Amino acid sequence: MNILVIGSGGREHALCHALKKSPATDKIYCLPGNAGTLELAECAEIDLKDFTAIAEFCKLREIALVVVGPEGPLVEGIADFLEGKGIAVFGPSKAAAQLEGSKNFTKNLCVKYNIPTAFYQSFTDAKEAVKFIETTDKRLVVKADGLAAGKGVIIPETKAEAIEAVHEIMGGKFGLAGKCIVIEEFLEGEEASFFALSDGKTSIKFGSAQDHKRAFDGDKGLNTGGMGTYSPAPIMTEDMDARVMREIIIPTIEAMQKEGTPFKGVLFAGLMITKDGPKLIEFNARFGDPETQVLMLRLESDLAELLLAAATGELAGKEVRLADSAAVCVVMAAKGYPGEYQKGSEIQGLEAAAKEPGAVIFHAGTKKSGDKILADGGRVLGVSASGKNVAEAREIAYRAIAKINWPEGFYRSDIGAKVINN
Ligand code: AMP
Ligand code: GLY
Repeated sequence: MNILVIGSGGREHALCHALKKSPATDKIYCLPGNAGTLELAECAEIDLKDFTAIAEFCKLREIALVVVGPEGPLVEGIADFLEGKGIAVFGPSKAAAQLEGSKNFTKNLCVKYNIPTAFYQSFTDAKEAVKFIETTDKRLVVKADGLAAGKGVIIPETKAEAIEAVHEIMGGKFGLAGKCIVIEEFLEGEEASFFALSDGKTSIKFGSAQDHKRAFDGDKGLNTGGMGTYSPAPIMTEDMDARVMREIIIPTIEAMQKEGTPFKGVLFAGLMITKDGPKLIEFNARFGDPETQVLMLRLESDLAELLLAAATGELAGKEVRLADSAAVCVVMAAKGYPGEYQKGSEIQGLEAAAKEPGAVIFHAGTKKSGDKILADGGRVLGVSASGKNVAEAREIAYRAIAKINWPEGFYRSDIGAKVINN
């Protein structure tokens, strides 16, 4: 079958990499893609908001499955639109994508269906929110309800900072996403990302990973989309995986079905493993970036078959097999990211880096110009590697990075280090 992957990041390059291995895959297309996906897929430029043009592209190219990478088009209803034209889509409907698109929606669902999450209150009135903060003794986290590109969460140290956060979010910093806020209890524990596939009825475990969100070594600097990952997440033992499926994923999929908005696609649970067990921090309605890069390196199952089964309600009886080995992804970003950065600098040494045994270089924000590869985004490369354990995988990834010559970029040198030092 022909498959269309929507998106342009490292996640989409990693998805193309895994889809390419499937005997079921004929041709892969990518909208808009990057210099990495160009090696595996035919890339085209179409405005991702122009669903009609995307549907026409699908008809013309005889696309049997559309795999949607980022949350934006899902929350805008791309799955509903394309399915309305008879095209199978891996990714949830607009209504089901609210699991990512609205924190308030997810929190309400958790309460209604007894899914473990932090205690919370939501507010549309700043005065009420301030009153709540003033009368609460717990440490709190303040969040914009809607999508804010990963920046809508503030973890204040003091009540005064919490109140300032309310005014900042409700004052319009995140536009409509901040009209409603969620204030919740601060959870202590270890974070992990957990992924499960669902076809609306059946859900199956995909695997776990751990992200490094801050820009610099030692978890310093601003929050980013993710500066590096490793998989598996050591805290996610077989038992913990089973518990997360039983207490969080399966109840959510059943709840969405009962509410008349079944969720199909990949459910990405951001978890805090607390002393009382796993608690949901947030859901995403799509694969993680850069979590996907490490999951795809460990994947032994046929991705095209799994994603088609999820899209068409046929996941029952299927399983995702991941290798026992580990994988690490180190993101190289343009200096200045997640703030302002320059585009257009040349990256050299990619071929030498890719020759490092075990290494795979996923492109994120790159573009090709003649023979040159140019930086074209904030997060630019995901230098990834598999190894028998995290220690070996990270050694290979950093050896590959050493071969890349890109003075305008930076990366963290401690991705996965915690696993080794513990
Ligand atoms: P989110 O966008 O909801 O995943 O939040 C971004 C980051 O903020 C998470 O990865 C956590 O590190 C942190 N965070 C969010 N909610 C909480 C919470 N209730 N307790 C502790 N940390 C949190
Ligand atoms: N790496 C976090 C995310 O994809 O949301």
